Amino acid sequence: MDPKGSWAVVTGASSGLGVEFARALAAMGANLVLTARREAPMQGLAEDLRGRHGVEVVVEAVDLSEADSAVALRDRLERRGIEPDILVNNAAFGLAGAFIEQEPARLRALLQVDIVSTTELTHVFGQPMARRGRGRILLVASLAAFQPTPLLAAYGAAKAYILSFGEALNLELGPEVGVTVLSPGLML
Ligand SMILES: NC(=O)c1ccc[n+]([C@@H]2O[C@H](COP(=O)([O-])OP(=O)(O)OC[C@H]3O[C@@H](n4cnc5c(N)ncnc54)[C@H](OP(=O)(O)O)[C@@H]3O)[C@@H](O)[C@H]2O)c1
Repeated sequence: MDPKGSWAVVTGASSGLGVEFARALAAMGANLVLTARREAPMQGLAEDLRGRHGVEVVVEAVDLSEADSAVALRDRLERRGIEPDILVNNAAFGLAGAFIEQEPARLRALLQVDIVSTTELTHVFGQPMARRGRGRILLVASLAAFQPTPLLAAYGAAKAYILSFGEALNLELGPEVGVTVLSPGLML
């Protein structure tokens, strides 16, 4: 699928890998929805990408640790008349250290961002892609998806979920809607 002229949603677009996904998609001519909590870095990136590649870029500040944030983002984009053909599920965070010492609220947020919102984003944006018979979904897992990860236990388990989920969905939705899982190693 040629991304030129399509809308692509990139989560976690305020830093790290998300910024690089946004840059790569803009260079291919995709219009972008950048989303994360911190708005300022995304506004700077949006300005840069509009100037460099002549694509449309909108910024939507969303906290994916909040319940129903995926549906809220879908609704906001609908109001703007944006129908994404590409979803890059990149936002996630890890909690290092002994599992029993983690704060319950942080653990809940990890599960909400890394699993629940990622699943719900895939659902709300995947449904119209499947109806249109056109779309691409990228799920960012990790090498931690492939084996248990003591001292990163919940993060590794969340990434194992993402790997299994994405591989299953690619069989369900492909070839019209392709689902790819990326499993990076440590990036410093
Ligand atoms: N770095 C590595 O070594 C490594 C290795 C393997 C896999 N990965 C995976 O690669 C992906 C990108 O990681 P990265 O290294 O680029 O991390 P990063 O620089 O920390 O970026 C994480 C992004 O997720 C967003 N995010 C975090 N919590 C959020 C929330 N509650 N609501 C909305 N957005 C939230 C952050 O934005 P805000 O803070 O502005 O919300 C940020 O844009 C993640 O899925 C990560 O698990 C990373």
